[in-house]
Amino acid sequence: MNISAPFGCMQLQHLSLSNLIQFGDHLFIDHPAIDAQHKAIFDIGTGVYENWRRGGSINVLRPAVEKLTNLMHAHFSYEERVLGEIGYEDLKNHAIEHRRMRDELSIMNEQFPMFKEEKEVRGGSLLAPGWSIMQFILGFTIGHVACCDMGYNRALVASREQSSIGCA
Ligand SMILES: [Fe+2]
Ligand SMILES: [Fe+2]
Repeated sequence: MNISAPFGCMQLQHLSLSNLIQFGDHLFIDHPAIDAQHKAIFDIGTGVYENWRRGGSINVLRPAVEKLTNLMHAHFSYEERVLGEIGYEDLKNHAIEHRRMRDELSIMNEQFPMFKEEKEVRGGSLLAPGWSIMQFILGFTIGHVACCDMGYNRALVASREQSSIGCA
């Protein structure tokens, strides 16, 4: 298998994440704090990946990955708290999905120290850190935000309407 060409004839280093996914209105949940957190996660993830794609060293990428990890954990906790407050009926399954991503993050962070500058194949190897970051961000945005997070949008709007009726 030619690992330098995981997408047909195109090499990984030619794939810009922001060309693959545009973070925009279609990914908005209609909750300002959550939308801001999603965008921050997407921006940092994209930044790490693009930095690696342009040849950024592991030592430079590592702090950004740590920042991404902290943001994700804080976001999951915040989102679960908001969903708990509105009594979201599918919270249990949503939290299980978060747990799965937390585990993926742990694996990614455990693998990071194993990457050695001299053994790195930038933009090519499926084992390279940029590859796992890209996979993760694609999974988070297209997989989780676009599907699972969008699923609670109606419950959020309904709860907002309820409380505004209660205030009237
Ligand atoms: Fe979520
Ligand atoms: Fe989310």
